[in-house]
Amino acid sequence: MKDSMRKRVLVATGGGDCPGLNAVIRAIVMRAAKEREWEVVGSINAFDGVLNEPNEIVILDEKEVAGVHIRGGTIIGTTNKGGPFAWPIKNQDGTWGSADRSDEMLRRLQYLGVDAVINIGGDGSQQISQKLFEKGCNIIGVPKTIDNDLSATDFTFGFQTAVQEATTAVDKLMTTAASHNRVFVLEVMGRYAGWIGLHSAVAGGADVCLIPEIPYDIEKVMEKIYSRFTRGRGYAIIVVSEGAKPKDGDMHYEESKEVGYKNVRLGGVASKLIAELKEAGLKTDIRETVLGHLQRGGTPIAYDRILATQFGVEAFEMVLRKEFGKMVAYRHPNIVSVPFEEAISHYNFVNPDSYLVKAARGVGICMGD
Ligand code: F6P
Repeated sequence: MKDSMRKRVLVATGGGDCPGLNAVIRAIVMRAAKEREWEVVGSINAFDGVLNEPNEIVILDEKEVAGVHIRGGTIIGTTNKGGPFAWPIKNQDGTWGSADRSDEMLRRLQYLGVDAVINIGGDGSQQISQKLFEKGCNIIGVPKTIDNDLSATDFTFGFQTAVQEATTAVDKLMTTAASHNRVFVLEVMGRYAGWIGLHSAVAGGADVCLIPEIPYDIEKVMEKIYSRFTRGRGYAIIVVSEGAKPKDGDMHYEESKEVGYKNVRLGGVASKLIAELKEAGLKTDIRETVLGHLQRGGTPIAYDRILATQFGVEAFEMVLRKEFGKMVAYRHPNIVSVPFEEAISHYNFVNPDSYLVKAARGVGICMGD
């Protein structure tokens, strides 16, 4: 039961999980604890906790969040399906449709005595934030995604942890590739952006790096691989982002059959690339490693905990300042706030003319073009 003297901020984590979510939650709670008139509650599995019957709302106090900043995932759960504007509904014929439950959700928030909402999530979640704000909700966003594809912020937390995982994979593949005179293809995540691929390829010293922003020419990739072998001896590491595509082709994806899941499912580009290389005449041994959700699970590295902590504290201070309709963002060296409209207006893609791409080329990494 809500203490009627206190104000309530509700925290939700939406979309795919990401290392650092718990550090944001902890920071919000710790900062709010300094304000006697505020309490923090969490909605289980994004806004499902508000909409489910009975609701699933948990009190988040200092005891509850003690030590959680070092834990991966999110202590209040998440989902990347449905949401208040597209709640999955089973039709009479067994097919699935969706219903807009946003008005009902706002009424429920009022009933729960919620004065403000902090929505931690990626582009899909911040689109929901914007729509809720337009309907009068006192809402603030915190950007998260390992993909680093939100344009309003220099970095999203979780990205550096994913890069570290991918770099460790490159390091490990290097020794086994060298021992067996093999080519390895490492497939990393990132959706339509090549940030994880580019950063891990540079950090690990890969030979080839293929990202969605620079469509590849298979012959150029072949040339680079050959240059790494002499009389059958040598090895090569190719880092390929899941959204990479050939010059004259498309990215590899499938429509998801999961109910309420709106995104296409990327993945499978490594095997597609291997097939293309073999068709182009590659004779060396070649193997693939798909890193998958290992990039998303587990302990956040220090950088992400620090960024997440700054985001959490600032998000709560934005609540105090009533700066609603905005998302917290990192613009070096400051933590700032940007209107949702600006935050979701376009994606952050790798600029093929950027310093990092130049550096990659400078150390001999073939970008596939
Ligand atoms: O957006 C984060 C991300 O991990 C992408 O890099 C990836 O394509 C997608 O989510 C995977 O989603 P799911 O966890 O639903 O398979």
